Amino acid sequence: RHFVRAASSDAATAAAKKLLIKHVTIIGGGLMGAGIAQVAAASGHTVVLVDQSDEILKKSTKGIEESLQRVTKKKFADKPEAGAEFIKKTLKNLTTSTDAASVVHSTDLVIEAIVENLEVKNKLFKTLDKFAPEHTIFASNTSSLQITKMANATTRQDRFGGLHFFNPVPMMKLVEVIKTPMTSQKTFESLMDFSKAVGKSPVSCKDTPGFIVNRLLVPYMMEAVRLFERGDASKEDIDVAMKLGAGYPMGPFELLDYVGLDTSKYIIDGWHSLEPNNPLFAPSPLLNKLVEEKKLGKKTGEGFYKYK
Ligand code: NAI
Repeated sequence: RHFVRAASSDAATAAAKKLLIKHVTIIGGGLMGAGIAQVAAASGHTVVLVDQSDEILKKSTKGIEESLQRVTKKKFADKPEAGAEFIKKTLKNLTTSTDAASVVHSTDLVIEAIVENLEVKNKLFKTLDKFAPEHTIFASNTSSLQITKMANATTRQDRFGGLHFFNPVPMMKLVEVIKTPMTSQKTFESLMDFSKAVGKSPVSCKDTPGFIVNRLLVPYMMEAVRLFERGDASKEDIDVAMKLGAGYPMGPFELLDYVGLDTSKYIIDGWHSLEPNNPLFAPSPLLNKLVEEKKLGKKTGEGFYKYK
């Protein structure tokens, strides 16, 4: 009996330790924030999406509606009524605001997906730290900045972690859950549970440059650019080789154009300044030149390839 009591009280303590996340505030209604808002609302969370203007938020909501239509068409192919109900329910869970400080008072989790700039992110977290309740967990969706530095801008270092989603969020199954040396086990487990609740497969990683995926992917793409820069192979052949020889869905140059050359340059420059002697993080003159010429990839109609 003693054992049973001990086991059940252990389970009770573990349950008390985790925070069940129901209400989520997402700051930044761009590509990533809108996607995260969509999957969180679709899985029954109450979501407030925040951005700088109503105009941007209108665009975000329209994008979410269109994405939901696409998802629903597939998911409820032979049950259109259930599909319409699903969209209605999801949109009911979603509201928008232009004032982050005034909406975080009852939120369990804040996910930041604003511009990739440490100063701007720190300023936001510092402000929200004053307005959010004590139990609220803060998370950043940053791809390349240190989570620890953002946590240190607040007084809730133990309730701070990384939640790194992938683009396009409704399609990509992975979330990297990032634990800093200060992130508590309770926070970490709550973030893992939240990631599963929104239908993703979480993996965990320490707060190191690029976490898992980008730490492997970015140096690989840079190495492809160097191979091409040396004239060892054409970019077309490198792409074909990695698709047919390694089974990758896209070649490195197609992927660079998809991600955006400015984004890739920003990441590699940041890592290079952290570790100037690491050859994997060396900048590329060709990438720099294309960015200077505003050839940023698919979004500008030209990067390594032309899209017009
Ligand atoms: P985006 O440029 O599409 O969206 C950023 C949004 O944040 C914009 O709508 C902007 O108006 C808003 N914003 C900027 N400052 C704000 C503030 N102070 N308060 C409220 N809203 C503000 O950017 P994207 O691509 O969605 O990236 C957001 C974050 O997600 C970045 O940290 C990026 O590193 C990260 N990320 C991006 C991925 C991608 O493939 N684009 C993948 C994974 C992470």
